[in-house]
Amino acid sequence: MSGFDTLLASVTSTAARPFSDAVTLPRGAYVDPDFAALETRRLFLGDWVCVGRLDEIPEPGDYITHRIVDTPVAVIHQRDGSLAALVTICRHRGAGLLEGCGHADRIVCPYHAWTYDLTGALLGAPFSGDRVDLSSISLPRARTDIWEGWIYVTLDDDVAPLSSRLGSLSSRIAPWYPADHVMVWRANEVWACNWKTLAENFTESYHLFSSHRETLQPYTPTQGVHCEPGEADWNIHWMDTTRPAAKTRPDASAEARRRFPLMHIYPSHVVSTSLERGFWMSLQPEGVDRVRVLWGVTAARSMVPADDAGYAAFRDDIKRTFDAVNLEDRRIVESIARNLRSDHYRPGPLCPKERTLWEFWRYLARRLA
Ligand code: FES
Ligand SMILES: [Fe+2]
Repeated sequence: MSGFDTLLASVTSTAARPFSDAVTLPRGAYVDPDFAALETRRLFLGDWVCVGRLDEIPEPGDYITHRIVDTPVAVIHQRDGSLAALVTICRHRGAGLLEGCGHADRIVCPYHAWTYDLTGALLGAPFSGDRVDLSSISLPRARTDIWEGWIYVTLDDDVAPLSSRLGSLSSRIAPWYPADHVMVWRANEVWACNWKTLAENFTESYHLFSSHRETLQPYTPTQGVHCEPGEADWNIHWMDTTRPAAKTRPDASAEARRRFPLMHIYPSHVVSTSLERGFWMSLQPEGVDRVRVLWGVTAARSMVPADDAGYAAFRDDIKRTFDAVNLEDRRIVESIARNLRSDHYRPGPLCPKERTLWEFWRYLARRLA
């Protein structure tokens, strides 16, 4: 057996252990470049990646961009109301066409100003005479899907629609009305850890009493964390809050006010959503110990102040809160990445409130074996 086969076999046998006897993945799953390359192929090029929220692009011409592994894409609200995901590599000599989020009536390349319409059809190529047959050139399309207000893109032509695989999760979280949320904050960062370490950190709330002693534990204590079995495409756990949601949805159930779900939609979309507020991340690996983190905060539409000053204060408060929490997590997950480089790293046993991690690793083993 090659070293890589031994690693895969070790991941598989770790995932096959019963939860009562679960241990963490072998170190190679976080540091081996071949393992990371397999994850990239199977999970990130072969499945759905979250790129943002539908409410971020309400008008025709509005767009959000993302990069799936090496491929830049833009999801653009079309004039007929549909969404199109275009690969934004210029068909002339490959310059990048769009960045960030914004609005465009046409897409103009910053290099030689070749111009495309919102569907990706080439409209003009300045100074090209009759060299360029405009009608034969357009930007390639990727597939899009929408689930509970989140937009996903895949570069794979065959993978099943994600939304069709998440029906049971939709039913489970319907009392929290996640599709009614709107984005109030979006950020792109690069953290120095393996993408799985960050996904794992987001989806276990065992650590709140210790890592987030002052920021989260008073409101969402570890004591109120409980896991429930997930399914093939997702895992879920719940947190009871000491501050029941009171300011929105008079029709909400008592359970929805005092508890909320945290989910991992595989491979790399992690979400918490209460009646009033949500927090999510979409992760893209950049090698074994770097991860591109797109994160956002959502709020129930009725919670968002209508006036500019109120909205600015609301956003500032959200940014302050989540920057503080993220910093607490970042210190830990980046220390794990450094320690994974040591030969002295050893797998450890999982605790009862970490069931979600065990489920994630079973998914990994299934997809990579
Ligand atoms: S690379 Fe885009 S116009 Fe030349
Ligand atoms: Fe945390």
